[in-house]
Amino acid sequence: MKTRQTSFVVAILSVVATAVKITDIQGVAFQSPFAGEWVHNVTGVVTAKDRYGFWVEGEPLEDTRVSNGLKVYSATLGRHVQTGDLVSLSGRVAEYRQAARPNDLYLTELELPSNLEVLSEGNTVIPLVLSKTGDRIPPATLLSAHDVGPDGWLSVPNNVTLLERANATLRPDRYGLDFWESLEGRLVTIPTPTAANFPDMFGSVWVYGDWDIPGKNERGGLTITPVDKMPDSHPGTVLIGRPLDGTRLPKSVVGMKLSDITGVVTYQFGYYYILPLTAPTVLHTPVQAPLPASITSTDHPCEIIIGDYNVENMSPRSNHIPFIADHIANYLHSPDIMFLQEIQDDSGSRDNGVTSANQTLTVLVKTIAQAQAGEDNEVIAPYSYSFVDIDPEDNMDGGKAGGNIRVAYLWRPEKVSLLPGVRGTATQATEVVEDANGQLTLSLNPGRIDPTSDAWEETRKPLAAAWQTTNGDRFFTVNVHLSSKRFSSSQHGDARPPVNGRAVQRTHQVKVTATFVDSILAKDSSASIILAGDMNDFVQTRTVFHPLHSLLHDINDVADIDPAERYTYVYEQHAQEIDHIFVSDAVAKRGAEVEHVHVNTWALSASARASDHDPTGAKIWVCKRLEDVAGRRLVIQADI
Ligand SMILES: *[C@@H]1O[C@H](CO)[C@@H](O)[C@H](O)[C@H]1NC(C)=O
Ligand SMILES: *[C@@H]1O[C@H](CO)[C@@H](O)[C@H](O)[C@H]1NC(C)=O
Ligand SMILES: *[C@@H]1O[C@H](CO)[C@@H](O)[C@H](O)[C@H]1NC(C)=O
Ligand SMILES: *[C@@H]1O[C@H](CO)[C@@H](O)[C@H](O)[C@H]1NC(C)=O
Repeated sequence: MKTRQTSFVVAILSVVATAVKITDIQGVAFQSPFAGEWVHNVTGVVTAKDRYGFWVEGEPLEDTRVSNGLKVYSATLGRHVQTGDLVSLSGRVAEYRQAARPNDLYLTELELPSNLEVLSEGNTVIPLVLSKTGDRIPPATLLSAHDVGPDGWLSVPNNVTLLERANATLRPDRYGLDFWESLEGRLVTIPTPTAANFPDMFGSVWVYGDWDIPGKNERGGLTITPVDKMPDSHPGTVLIGRPLDGTRLPKSVVGMKLSDITGVVTYQFGYYYILPLTAPTVLHTPVQAPLPASITSTDHPCEIIIGDYNVENMSPRSNHIPFIADHIANYLHSPDIMFLQEIQDDSGSRDNGVTSANQTLTVLVKTIAQAQAGEDNEVIAPYSYSFVDIDPEDNMDGGKAGGNIRVAYLWRPEKVSLLPGVRGTATQATEVVEDANGQLTLSLNPGRIDPTSDAWEETRKPLAAAWQTTNGDRFFTVNVHLSSKRFSSSQHGDARPPVNGRAVQRTHQVKVTATFVDSILAKDSSASIILAGDMNDFVQTRTVFHPLHSLLHDINDVADIDPAERYTYVYEQHAQEIDHIFVSDAVAKRGAEVEHVHVNTWALSASARASDHDPTGAKIWVCKRLEDVAGRRLVIQADI
């Protein structure tokens, strides 16, 4: 057999030279026992190449903690090898991460390689098959032994341990990061994987294979659900990066089935990746179109349909208004009250001092009226929806500069009305008070909750409102949009548990909101209260929601929604619920229906979405009287 040989002179030569196996280099821990050392006569078969070098795979060990794959970092040397070459080479073992990315995990590499010798050609490496019927499957629920705390990987405080500093011995049977680390550099196949999301901004796709995964929803996405009371992190899900042969990944959607993916396991940009040798093809795209909610409004004054929708930076000129209007009119069937978030001012993100959103809301309610009437029918004011909001102080509530996003209510005046009162201003706090008849109302209606509290610095303030039915029964609502998860760190990163951006601020915000809710319940423990909106966190982050725990009920629990189907958003590998509806005891005891309407998470492309959030619709009973409704007797639920 023909042998090619290439020699490279290395400036510094080590003193001692011994043959070292790839498995010796990888070792049983996150970091190599040879880190920083020169090694010689490292042999392995070339499995893949990229423009920075190539991957080699040596003899495997029985010990599943130890990888037999390795990245060789050298573009020059890469040009002298072919896939299938059995090579021998020297080099220095490095634990590498970009200086600009200090929260990344280290990738074990052989750098400054030399003494390359091709011992034979045309060798094959059989990929390790990741599937239930194959060689290995990832662990089911946990990412890292260091995600300690009451809520596992979602625990607060975050960043208690640095994984690389701890350099633990790998436990690939138990922890996802350990599992992927134990395969670092190896050639693996995931047979017919499923995509868990749309592509990310680099075109990479999160996938999972054929193994049991808690929280798998009907669409094929992976919902964050509790397992043994701990939130599941979907540790077996992995990013598929740019194919090594220059082909392009298909544009994924949630639940899309792909053909087998074979590639090398690596770590880059904060995550474990498989770099496929070539792009997979699409085997199947979910065909079921999003279904409209089955909940519809009734004539009964006590039975109220609410909708909740983050309409993503809506201004009067937004192209997505007709889609949002269609969702409200035809998928939620025009709820009696809409809780909206991310309504921008009338000048959108132009930073010009305008704070009123009167035009934004007017255009929206007019477009909803058109959607209700059908495309060609001209609609004239008054539209079926009235609206109310409170203008923020200019650029004081976070979000896109100049946009002045705020929460707002739409309501159907023939069904409900705001109790008479004065609308508050940006800085005035509303309070629960008794009116002249001794009935509860709000001092400002609607009004903001404690808007000058530190909790709301640089963020949207909640809008509380007191309502009455056409029979005069009263209820309260709070519409919130808590601080975003900006500044969160990677779930595959060094900081354990990962940093949950602004969790401390959200906890404070929930606390202030809970204090307000409690002030109503203190005056009337059987008050009907609905708290809804974009809360930017999962109920599984129990620390954040703790202040509400004894006051309100998650409407999903009241309606007994399958935990896997509780999602309104998809981010990275998770389908997740960050939009919530909570109700008071009195409302919960009368039962409720709720539906998350997946008009956006089920879109056939990321760009076809009208918003990044799905809307939710719910039916509740707001009167203290119980009675027969359309043949259905409302029964007090004793077990709530
Ligand atoms: C490495 O291999 C070369 C032949 O390619 C041999 O001459 C040398 O002795 C080996 N070194 C070690 C440390 O095994
Ligand atoms: C990491 O752990 C391995 C195995 O215990 C050890 O050989 C290596 O020196 C450790 N590296 C560091 C930087 O602690
Ligand atoms: C985690 O904490 C360390 C200090 O222990 C700090 O250097 C690092 O920047 C933090 N990581 C993140 C992602 O905030
Ligand atoms: C919106 O603006 C119009 C015209 O300026 C005004 O008549 C109306 O009262 C405003 N509506 C609300 C809800 O502020």
